[in-house]
Amino acid sequence: MAERSARSNQTVTLTDDSSGKTIKLPVAGGSAGPQVIDVRKLYAETGMFTFDPGFTSTASCESRITFIDGDAGELLYRGYSIDELAEHSDFMDCCYLLLNGELPNREQKAKFEWNISHHTMLHEQMAFLYRGFRRDAHPMAVMVGVVGAMSAFYHDSLDINDPHQRMVASYRMIAKMPTIAAMAYKYSLGQPFMYPRNELKYAENFMHMMFAVPAESYKVNPVLAKAMDRIFMLHADHEQNASTSTVRLAGSSGANPFACIAAGIACLWGPSHGGANEAVLHMLQEIGSVEHVPEFLKRVKDKNDTTRLMGFGHRVYKNFDPRAKVMQRTCHEVLDELGVKEEPLLKLAMELERIALQDDYFAQRKLYPNVDFYSGIIMRAIGIPLSMFTVIFAVARTVGWVAQWNEMIEDPNQKIGRPRQLYTGALRRPYLPLHQRR
Ligand code: CMC
Repeated sequence: MAERSARSNQTVTLTDDSSGKTIKLPVAGGSAGPQVIDVRKLYAETGMFTFDPGFTSTASCESRITFIDGDAGELLYRGYSIDELAEHSDFMDCCYLLLNGELPNREQKAKFEWNISHHTMLHEQMAFLYRGFRRDAHPMAVMVGVVGAMSAFYHDSLDINDPHQRMVASYRMIAKMPTIAAMAYKYSLGQPFMYPRNELKYAENFMHMMFAVPAESYKVNPVLAKAMDRIFMLHADHEQNASTSTVRLAGSSGANPFACIAAGIACLWGPSHGGANEAVLHMLQEIGSVEHVPEFLKRVKDKNDTTRLMGFGHRVYKNFDPRAKVMQRTCHEVLDELGVKEEPLLKLAMELERIALQDDYFAQRKLYPNVDFYSGIIMRAIGIPLSMFTVIFAVARTVGWVAQWNEMIEDPNQKIGRPRQLYTGALRRPYLPLHQRR
């Protein structure tokens, strides 16, 4: 472990029952969460690997950024609870906090916001990249391509060992992501791209680039902009989830940071991860009405059916996802602002949640609503199309990816990520010439 983790004198003893040989493995503890058994010497001393597909019992790194207490349903960014941040803070505060470890004072915040807003424009040549895509391409596919292509445009922030260049690359990614996302949307509509506006706040600017057209003036609704800012805050980081681990693994080889973020976006797209917000809406539309809920849940519980209750369950939370609670509150605020008296999908989602939470299947497996359960209803009400839901997750998560990538590069124990395997394939055998193969 690095010097910063607490080393205890505690050890665990591992006994090989066939040979009787024992080894002692050191135990280390962090500031919170389970202790870890340090197995780094295990292979050298026993010739054995650990086997943990899906990393259910493996801490892949040491981190100081985000902490989840899955049993208590608590999420902390640098020690601050997500509920308090969502209530009193904003996304720029969270970005500064995640990147630097502390909340900014007034002056630091103004400087940070200035820096971010002055990096929002894209190299003009990048607009041509979009034209290579089909208009009906999924915007996540466009995001993977365009963000990856940033590595070809920003040559002056490519020395990952230079902290200044890393900072510039970090600002660029956080600042340009909304521009790239809004352009993906405008391209799908066939509307002109809207340039960023520096006088607008981060979420307002994103909504402006999404919904404004050059032919008329557009005023961003402050309640909706606040809801969007909150969606960004709630998705900003989530410790070593699949896409963050992807970014870290890609970055561990010293790869280009923009390319690493593109890898993270590709991973996020999957329906078990960030793609779930889109899948929840598809599911609610498929269920259609409250009377179909029991029949749908029957399918979810059937071992021979692959249907899952999307927006439910989490690898780490075995209680309510704290973000889901904030999302539900925000959902009501947005619908009130828009004067929507009855949103059938919200009614359906709440009924689905109520019935599922009373059902033994979900109770026994500790399956609760996660962040994606309500976020889609809010985004739909704001006017964001389904295919853009995961893109918004990617915009928000960029700061988390970047903070974790920076932390990894600065970690003195950092090595290229290179897991081993339990090989169960064929043993060495003689080559078979073509004429002998059947
Ligand atoms: N619906 C029905 N059954 C479920 C669900 C669900 N949503 N989630 C888990 N289970 C069952 C699963 O079938 C298994 O049952 P059994 O023990 O009888 O085989 C048990 O619960 C444990 O599930 P698991 O798949 O081993 O758990 P996991 O930690 O590998 O999966 C998960 C976590 C998030 C992939 C999963 O809960 C899931 O697929 N949820 C739906 C998709 C979703 O909402 N994803 C968003 C996650 S939050 C945002 C993000 O991280 O991107």
